[in-house]
Amino acid sequence: PVKVTKICCIGAGYVGGPTCAVIALKCPHITVTIVDLNQARIDAWNSADFALPIYEPGLVEVVKQARGRNLFFSTDVDKGIKEADLIFVSVNTPTKKSGVGAGFAADLNYVELATRRIAAVAHSSKIVVEKSTVPCRTAESMRTILEANSRPGCRFDILSNPEFLAEGTAISDLFSPDRVLIGSLQTQEGKDACGSLSDVYANWVPKERILTVGLWSSELSKLAANAMLAQRISSVNALSAICEATGANIDEVAHAVGFDSRIGPKFLRASVGFGGSCFQKDILNLVYLSESLHLPQVAAYWRQVVEMNEYQKSRFSKTVVDTLFNTITGKQIAVLGFAFKADTGDTRESPAISLVRDFLSERAYVTIYDPQVEETQIWLDLAEACPTVPLELIKKQVTIVKSAIEACKNKEAIVIATEWKEFREIDWHTVYTHMNKPAFVFDGRMLVDADALRQIGFKVKVIGRGERV
Ligand code: NAI
Repeated sequence: PVKVTKICCIGAGYVGGPTCAVIALKCPHITVTIVDLNQARIDAWNSADFALPIYEPGLVEVVKQARGRNLFFSTDVDKGIKEADLIFVSVNTPTKKSGVGAGFAADLNYVELATRRIAAVAHSSKIVVEKSTVPCRTAESMRTILEANSRPGCRFDILSNPEFLAEGTAISDLFSPDRVLIGSLQTQEGKDACGSLSDVYANWVPKERILTVGLWSSELSKLAANAMLAQRISSVNALSAICEATGANIDEVAHAVGFDSRIGPKFLRASVGFGGSCFQKDILNLVYLSESLHLPQVAAYWRQVVEMNEYQKSRFSKTVVDTLFNTITGKQIAVLGFAFKADTGDTRESPAISLVRDFLSERAYVTIYDPQVEETQIWLDLAEACPTVPLELIKKQVTIVKSAIEACKNKEAIVIATEWKEFREIDWHTVYTHMNKPAFVFDGRMLVDADALRQIGFKVKVIGRGERV
């Protein structure tokens, strides 16, 4: 196998940035250059005060140690490609918005453009690694493009190396991954390329955690893992609806169920619904794949995981309206949290967006606070979620503030949309004195101590609990 000394990563986003920063940290003998077309993003990665473009606990410390030593960020994509022996393709693969497969299939345009760039500028042989989450058999298309455009003497070996990090815990996930998965063609060259990449990870990952499989299995495993994780959430959320209707408590049910060693306790928390850039996109991708393979029953099975999530979000909005005496028109609602989960500033597919959209369509006034999400991002998300409403009108109904306490002042209801730790530590006594009465709390993340809040005087609704407010 080729010994890798220079790595280029195309795409400086949530995956490319942290992943390759950690590779640089753990492999001081390898030069790692992360390239992106987005100048603002690269500038932020290079900023003197480490105001990085993404928030991820522990990330700044990693970048501080490696940047300028063997970790570089640049917009010179071609130079990055030319110099590298191994190239990660870590570009975005969103759901297609138009054309064939719109709403389901992955938009592979960015992957294709990056691949074509590699073919156009490479003067020497490269190992090209698919890091983005892609439909099964995308590596085949990449290989065809590379081989059709390569210079004589230039060899391209394609690997699939899907990323399993979770936003919010990316750095610890990368430091000690459950597994690293590498897929390759089962030819000698494929296996050699696989060996080269394994050796990179072996600098810090125990050998037995580096799994090597065929290309297609590797691609499909990433979709499968996300589909099964999301399925657990949709299963527990479906049960939460039964809990609310019967008086059972989803916390107790999940605890009892999770004690079964075959099921296990993790990822069984009911919530207002899952979000993030991956779960929905990857399941829809699997649905599309199943349909293309003429497996309609399989497609319908996975589609239901996404439908249950939509149901959970709208069910929660409806609970808020129903509880506030069947109308929220003109009422003041605080939404705590806008990121799709705690410890990230990422809002892609955040359930908070759907909630705020629903509240706006009922003509409520909404005040939003999130510890990490930029104000400009919130306006972008709301404008996208309410395409028929001009932004000036949205701005008349929505206020963005800088603290939870400020958000809750003079409100009729508080909606907890993200499980930020700081919301657990709010001084609820103070909040209560400044709210309109009756003061309602809707906990979409099972975060608060409902009994303690009731003692203060709040009316509390927690997802998955059948108690009366
Ligand atoms: P992102 O949108 O944060 O980053 C992608 C970056 O690629 C952008 O900065 C974009 O400017 C850049 N880019 C696109 N085309 C380019 C080109 N031709 N040349 C240079 N740069 C280009 O996306 P994110 O979240 O990092 O996701 C990347 C991939 O990783 C996706 O396929 C996603 O499904 C997958 N993934 C994401 C995870 C997550 O937690 N966000 C976890 C595991 C996988």
